[in-house]
Amino acid sequence: MLTDLLDQNLEWARQKRQEDPNYFKRLSEQQQPDYLWIGCSDSRVPANVITGLAPGEVFVHRNVANLVHRGDLNLLSVLEFAVESLGVRHIIVCGHYGCGGIKAAMDGHRHGIVDHWLQPIRDVADQNRKDLDTIVDPGTRINRLCELSIAAQVDALGRTPIIQSAWQRGKELSIHGWVYGLSDGLIRDLDCNRVGSAMGS
Ligand code: CO
Repeated sequence: MLTDLLDQNLEWARQKRQEDPNYFKRLSEQQQPDYLWIGCSDSRVPANVITGLAPGEVFVHRNVANLVHRGDLNLLSVLEFAVESLGVRHIIVCGHYGCGGIKAAMDGHRHGIVDHWLQPIRDVADQNRKDLDTIVDPGTRINRLCELSIAAQVDALGRTPIIQSAWQRGKELSIHGWVYGLSDGLIRDLDCNRVGSAMGS
């Protein structure tokens, strides 16, 4: 099976060179993505594929259930590099309906280390208990929690010192919350954007 991957890679690189002989030379010299994508690790939600973006066009960070933990050095390093060095203009937090991470956070079972990772989802659920309790269908309720969690991650990103500092210096930078539908392949904008509003200014 791994041989298949390497064969497919050979064919892909050959096609790219055929379309544009300078393609790899140009890409190897620099990347100038306008977007930072923070998405779920789920194999069905690949940033480049679902947005039609080519290599070099989106900087990507993925973790289980697209969460923004304030002490996550991995995410913070990606964020700082994307904002300060690459100069991305848009940060997109994209979750997806039917997210296994959201389900695991709420099913009452023990899954291991990931239970610690998923705690922010339970916090969001607790903060929105009234709203969620009005939804009878369990699938619809999980999907609503999925949307609420995405909005909470957008909010958490906007409060990081990295973003606050960028906004204070007048950087044009917006944060968006999107949700992807596994069953129809469509992305919906959740209208929870944050645009350059440094706290206290
Ligand atoms: Co997921």
